[in-house]
Amino acid sequence: MSSPPPLEALTRTAEAEFARRLGRPPRWLVAAPGRVNLIGEQADYNDGFVLPMAIDRHVIIAADRPADPAATEARVYSAAVDRWTTLAVNGPAAPQPGDWAGYVQGVLVGCRAAGLAPGPFEAVVVSDVPLGGGLSSSAALEVATATLVEALTGRRLEPLPKALLCQQAEHEYAGVPCGIMDQCCSVMGRAGMLLLLDCRTREVRPTPLAGPDATVLIVNSNVKHALTDGGYAARRRQCEAAAHTLGVPALRDLTPAGLERQRGRLDDLTYRRARHVVTENERTLAAAEALRRGDLAEVGRLMSASHASLRDDYQVSCPELDLLVELAAAIGPAGGVIGSRMTGGGFGGCTVSLVRRAALEDVAHRVGEGYRQKTGRAATVFVTQPSEGARVLKGGLP
Ligand code: GLA
Repeated sequence: MSSPPPLEALTRTAEAEFARRLGRPPRWLVAAPGRVNLIGEQADYNDGFVLPMAIDRHVIIAADRPADPAATEARVYSAAVDRWTTLAVNGPAAPQPGDWAGYVQGVLVGCRAAGLAPGPFEAVVVSDVPLGGGLSSSAALEVATATLVEALTGRRLEPLPKALLCQQAEHEYAGVPCGIMDQCCSVMGRAGMLLLLDCRTREVRPTPLAGPDATVLIVNSNVKHALTDGGYAARRRQCEAAAHTLGVPALRDLTPAGLERQRGRLDDLTYRRARHVVTENERTLAAAEALRRGDLAEVGRLMSASHASLRDDYQVSCPELDLLVELAAAIGPAGGVIGSRMTGGGFGGCTVSLVRRAALEDVAHRVGEGYRQKTGRAATVFVTQPSEGARVLKGGLP
């Protein structure tokens, strides 16, 4: 099991990378975290409830104004793909679906539209959020970019408009019709807290994570997911079709009993997609309540039910994620596993498990070994803490 390197270590890497590429220290450093969702999956774009937390893994951007005073654009280097790109800072720019630079470009355009014109700059991006792992590497990049623009302009964006601007960049520049969970979490994360987010009212209720004994273990199946592939957008369309047929603004407006009464109006597949969403909303609210009461057994039960629903009704799991959840379930409460489920957009990526602190090493070892034996693949296992949202590390804001 690996512990994430502290933020300071990644910050030093960003500074060193900037100095190596540009021959001077950066004037600004900003960080934005990835997130893991404990429960409330595929609910945000249905106006529903989610319960994520920001994790202690980040995208860091190191930046300065260009050495060349005649420069008019942004030059950005991504260490993850080892590539420089040039981006427009003064006007419209063409979307670049599927390319990391699209996320940055989309946010630059959105910031400018919000009255924060970044001006030309040079930047280096480093990250320890696994790419395509369902931990919001893309939202972290978007939110880090918006935070950099705040630092460059010396002006703050309010948290919700900042998250919405980043979401819009993902819609328009990456072609992914995502909900608001990831960007909200990366902007608004709180140390030690899960965030119960009502995706209709956008009200955020920080919810403490279950006392000192329960820790969050993330297991990356290392099966890559790509939300740009179309499965995610297809699910969103099915949900909207179900809400339309049943005459409600969003699936948020249905209870499980209400859906059952109208079952005959939906074809079986659409019904099952809707059933996942309406039952997940109930599970998420129940999990937040159970956490407040300290009833971890109930949280675990709800996490298992969430996984089964995502696997069977929503069909966004995959054999590797199912295996990881089964391995954790086989260890069970007696071995220190409180609950386990797939997390994030699906079709690969990670599981999230609540694990008793004393059992962490053992659980990590047993799940990792079991996975290797059955699939021949190595899983990446790490423990994480609920962390603060995006911030300026160097260069400050007024
Ligand atoms: C991705 C999206 C989110 C959310 C999750 C599934 O992470 O970006 O908006 O829909 O999938 O819960």
